[in-house]
Amino acid sequence: MRKKIVAANWKMNLTLADGAFLVNEILTAATAVTTLKQVVIATPFVHLTQTAAQLEGFGNIHLGAQNCSSEKSGAYTGEVSAAMLIDAGVQYVIVGHSERRGYFNEDSAMLAKKVNQCLETGLQVIFCCGEPLEIRDAETQNAFVAKQIAEGLFHLTAEQLQNVTIAYEPIWAIGTGRTATTEQAQSIHAYIRNVIAGQYGNDAAANIAILYGGSCNPTNAAELFACPDVDGGLIGGASLKADQFLSIIAAMINS
Ligand code: PGA
Repeated sequence: MRKKIVAANWKMNLTLADGAFLVNEILTAATAVTTLKQVVIATPFVHLTQTAAQLEGFGNIHLGAQNCSSEKSGAYTGEVSAAMLIDAGVQYVIVGHSERRGYFNEDSAMLAKKVNQCLETGLQVIFCCGEPLEIRDAETQNAFVAKQIAEGLFHLTAEQLQNVTIAYEPIWAIGTGRTATTEQAQSIHAYIRNVIAGQYGNDAAANIAILYGGSCNPTNAAELFACPDVDGGLIGGASLKADQFLSIIAAMINS
C-alpha cells in the first residue's frame, strides 16, 4: 500500500520562536499519524536543527528541507549539501518547486542533479511539477507535466524511484486561493500515475505517492484527498497556521 503524506512548506516564513511554537502545536497530531499516513514539515534551513530536536521521538512526523545543492561539496558559496541536510536530521527534500524553477532558474538538468544528490545521500525526494496558467488554458498541461517528470526523474532506476514522492502543483493555484477542482486534480494525478506506469511498470505506479499542492486548505482538503489518485498534499499558506494545518492533517488521516 502506498503512503499518504501531508507536507508543510513554510517557504521563507517564521522566526525561530514562531517556528518552535508552531511545531509544538503540530505535535498534538502525533498520535494520529502512522507509517502509512505521515506528516512532513519543510522548514527554512536555519530552522532545521531546532525542529529536528523538537521532532525527536515522533517517528512519523518527518523533517523536510525546501532545497538542496546540486553539488556534493566545495566552493559553492551560499549552498547547502545533501550530506549537511542528513546531518541536520532531514529526511525529505522538496526539489523542483515552481518558485525555485521560476525565480532561481532551476532547469531540469539541475533538478536531476539535485534529485541524484538527495537519493545518493539517503534523503527522500518530494519532486514538484505543475503547469502555468497559459498551459492550462491551452489544455496542454498533461504533456507539460509529463516532460517535467521525464526530465527530472526518468534517469532513476525503479528502486531509486521508491524514495520519490511527486507533488503536482499547478502554478495558477499556488498562493492564489484558486484551487484545482477535484476533477482537475484527479484527472492529472491519474495521468501522472500512467506516465510512471509507462516508464516503470504498474507496481511502481501503484506505489508512488502523488500529492496535490496549490491553495489546499481546511475547506477543500477532504474532497481533494478523497480522489483515488491524490495521496495527500503539499501545503504552503495553510501550513503556517496550526489550526488549519492540523485540520488538513486530520483530513488526510480520515481519507
Ligand atoms: P499554497 O502553496 O498552499 O500557499 O498555495 C503550496 C506550495 O507552493 O507548496
